[in-house]
Amino acid sequence: MHIDALEKIWIYIVGLIIVFMLGAIFYAAFAVSVHPPSNVETVDSMRLHLTEEFAEDNLGVKTNSDGSLTVTVVTARYGIYPQQIEVPADTPIKFRFATPDVLHGLHMPKSNVDTMVIPGFVSEVNTTLQHPGEYPLFCNEYCGLGHHYMWARVKVVEKTSTN
Ligand code: CUA
Repeated sequence: MHIDALEKIWIYIVGLIIVFMLGAIFYAAFAVSVHPPSNVETVDSMRLHLTEEFAEDNLGVKTNSDGSLTVTVVTARYGIYPQQIEVPADTPIKFRFATPDVLHGLHMPKSNVDTMVIPGFVSEVNTTLQHPGEYPLFCNEYCGLGHHYMWARVKVVEKTSTN
């Protein structure tokens, strides 16, 4: 089979692009820990406020026996609760998100926290935040007229011996 010289060059260029893209995907997955959420856990979104975990008084940061943290968050039209989340740097954190109404998305810049929050499911993101500072946590799925009101603030503080 005859392949034109110019065509051959493009076959190589396309091959290189594919290798580069696969490299970028593997780099993101294994070096920077960017993964699609894989936790499939259902929850009754109609009764979310009546559950133990996602009741209003139980939201926020909890310390586990191994020193890691679990942060429980409800995203609902139009807010993210709790609105202030304070966590220490350099500590493993498991975020657990749920919604009582429609599809939302949660994104925290400069971290791997970026997930859809789907009615009927608990979305989980594992992260460790390295750099102290204030970060926004906001909705990035259009969810209605108040979509742009959906913000919370994550304050990452220096790790101390008490936390
Ligand atoms: Cu919630 Cu957009």
